[in-house]
Amino acid sequence: MPYWVEFPKREPLNMTFSGGSGFARFRPLRRDRQTRLANTETKLDASRFVYPMFLVNGVNIRQPINAMPGIARLSADQAVREADNAIAKGVPRFLLFGLPDEKHPDGRNAWSSNEAVQRTIRALKREFPHATVFTDVCLCEYTDHGHCGLLSTDQAEPTVDNDKTLPLLARTALSHTEAGADFVAPSAMMDGQVAAIRDALDADGFNNTKILGYSAKYASAFYGPFREAADSAPAQGDRRTYQMQTAQRVEAMREIEADISEGADAVMVKPALSYLDVISAATSKFPNAEIYAYNVSGEYSMITAAAANGWIERKTAALEVLLSIRRAGSDHIITYFALDAADWLRETEAGIL
Ligand code: PBG
Repeated sequence: MPYWVEFPKREPLNMTFSGGSGFARFRPLRRDRQTRLANTETKLDASRFVYPMFLVNGVNIRQPINAMPGIARLSADQAVREADNAIAKGVPRFLLFGLPDEKHPDGRNAWSSNEAVQRTIRALKREFPHATVFTDVCLCEYTDHGHCGLLSTDQAEPTVDNDKTLPLLARTALSHTEAGADFVAPSAMMDGQVAAIRDALDADGFNNTKILGYSAKYASAFYGPFREAADSAPAQGDRRTYQMQTAQRVEAMREIEADISEGADAVMVKPALSYLDVISAATSKFPNAEIYAYNVSGEYSMITAAAANGWIERKTAALEVLLSIRRAGSDHIITYFALDAADWLRETEAGIL
């Protein structure tokens, strides 16, 4: 039996169907908003959101990102302000990305204790000890070539050297952990990255730091706006030799299984919208795993840009997408809409219109 036919994670149902006329009546379930709310299978809840932030060095910096209206690059002090605002809205979970002032072939600023990410982790944990800080562990923002690991030039085409990259990812994760991160989230799509990080953390006594694997991360066109935000586009080539190909679903299950067996505390499907079937399959196949879905930059910018042109309604379109990700079975949603959506949820209760 295909494993994606069951949907174990829905909310309890409260449905009544009227029959008796030779056909079932569904419209009474939709009569008004109160009735729709009482009969909803899926609800949105701000506590399930994780809000990504792009960090830069310096002070008092808030640099709007052209390709992502409403999102800015922040210095640590501004990230604290943003977090304060987010927490007031009911979103106390953050995923941090950093832009260094200098890039190197090996991405060495990724593990510098003085970089924007490490400084912001310390500031956030000092101000908001109960907030949850996730960090993206990857080298693409820190390498001068823009790839997610160390380039090996032995072959005709330069490729990312998997095993030489692992210790660098482990070092980066360790520096985030030393700064106080709750979750480190390796996104480089190197084989064995979760195991390498788990070993390094345990060796230094950080047994309580959790790992969120970017397990099923696809080579996607929908990362376009992020690469402007994080200045992380590869100078040459693309990421197809390490990120998954869109055509795969069974392979995604194997990636998730591998991350769990390497010690991941939670796993991710990314992007979300073109991969709802993968999320659904994962929740059915791994009912005990915590599943995160990443509603990525392109998914945010498409809606925001179309809305700016008057072609789509931003709020209803975003709520529809977020509900669909939740309906597919994801426990958590990483989304740039988190703060706006938290406001909308207060207006509309659970995102039901
Ligand atoms: C780092 C990374 C990327 C994203 C998250 N971590 C970019 C990439 O793989 O090119 C994309 C997130 C988004 O588009 O919102 N490797």
